[in-house]
Amino acid sequence: MPPVAENDRFVENPSGVRAGVRGDFPIFSRDFGGRPLVYLDSAASSQKPQVVIDALADHLRNHNANVHRGVYALAQEADAAYDDARTRVAAFVGAQPRTTIFTKNATEAINLVAYAWGRANVGAGDAVLITQMEHHANVVPWQVLCRERGASLRYLEVDEHGELSLAALDAELARGDVRLAAFAHVSNVLGTINPVAEMTARARAAGAVSLVDGAQAVPQMPVDVEALGADFYAWTGHKALGPTGIGVLHGRVEILERMEPFLTGGDMIASVDFQSATWNELPYKFEAGTPPIAEAVGLGAAVEYLRTLGMERVRAHERALTAYMLERLAEVPGLRVVGPPAAERRGGLASFTLEGIHPHDVAELADRAGVCIRAGHHCAQPLMRCLGVSATARASVGVYNDRSDVDALIDALVAGREVFGL
Ligand SMILES: Cc1ncc(COP(=O)(O)O)c(C=O)c1O
Repeated sequence: MPPVAENDRFVENPSGVRAGVRGDFPIFSRDFGGRPLVYLDSAASSQKPQVVIDALADHLRNHNANVHRGVYALAQEADAAYDDARTRVAAFVGAQPRTTIFTKNATEAINLVAYAWGRANVGAGDAVLITQMEHHANVVPWQVLCRERGASLRYLEVDEHGELSLAALDAELARGDVRLAAFAHVSNVLGTINPVAEMTARARAAGAVSLVDGAQAVPQMPVDVEALGADFYAWTGHKALGPTGIGVLHGRVEILERMEPFLTGGDMIASVDFQSATWNELPYKFEAGTPPIAEAVGLGAAVEYLRTLGMERVRAHERALTAYMLERLAEVPGLRVVGPPAAERRGGLASFTLEGIHPHDVAELADRAGVCIRAGHHCAQPLMRCLGVSATARASVGVYNDRSDVDALIDALVAGREVFGL
């Protein structure tokens, strides 16, 4: 891990004026009732740097046309912009453009696999293995698939430290019926960083296909899809400083080649006759209709921005801030953090409960102090059941946060306890 240099853009300007990374995000020049924005909800969606906003606007203003259809110069500019975005996005995570498919979001990327691969490969007597820490996006598509195909859906347990057990994974795979193992790279509730490379290798050795939900990982740590060995890797643009409306699915070429399309219509065909059609080559076979062109351009700008910051740096920054957040949260009486105790084992977030105050009230009290945090089940209701709670509050950090944001949260929590007479 490279040391964080003195002049690192993550370091607060010594004069006290926040500069560097934060200054790249125009939303932080807003104020909320006289208070600055303290945004600790990046796990839900990140804020956008000016370069992304500019790339979107520039594309729409100067280069807008549909792709793959026009011979005129403007259409070719749009084609080039879309292709270039795919090349950048693929390179950012060590993937190939041909096997990098643009979708609407991570949810659609996972559904693509559940429908196009799952319907052809999972049948009665087979099993899909997921974990208790999955986001609904990586639960419900498998529930529907298994119900439809007469397969069973099994869950790897999460232990008291919010971790999975590789021995338990081995035991599940040894049953011999697992066709697909799907798991989060980083949990959006516990923060746990799962040992993805070990898990995909074990799945593969057992003859199962692996799918990794990287929605929380790609925005905050270096990810090399090929090195991780996942057959499918899904993520979403809006959490990675990009626009909404764009997600990404990387797939292993041999598997994608054999798969039937997910959605059908324009652009995904090679030719269409009255009764039948043949499919376009990868990745277009899986991109039916007009794709999210401007959104792809925006995501291309986002990953370029992150690449320039350096993902090792981003991870070091968020890990240090998470360690600080865990330390400070421990000062609040009655506060219980869920997930791995050590910051090295978790991504940039902490979910917690506060004795005597419902998580929704915690979020509301924080909001009164201008601090944005999330409360609820975080689209992980099965996990909430395992944790024995209906909801948690969650604070999550991004490249633009610093210690003062964490301090503002702690002050709000301490003041909130007083409001509740605790
Ligand atoms: C771990 C995880 N997976 C999947 C998703 C779904 O992302 P999207 O709503 O962009 O499809 C999220 C979003 O919160 C997430 O945290």
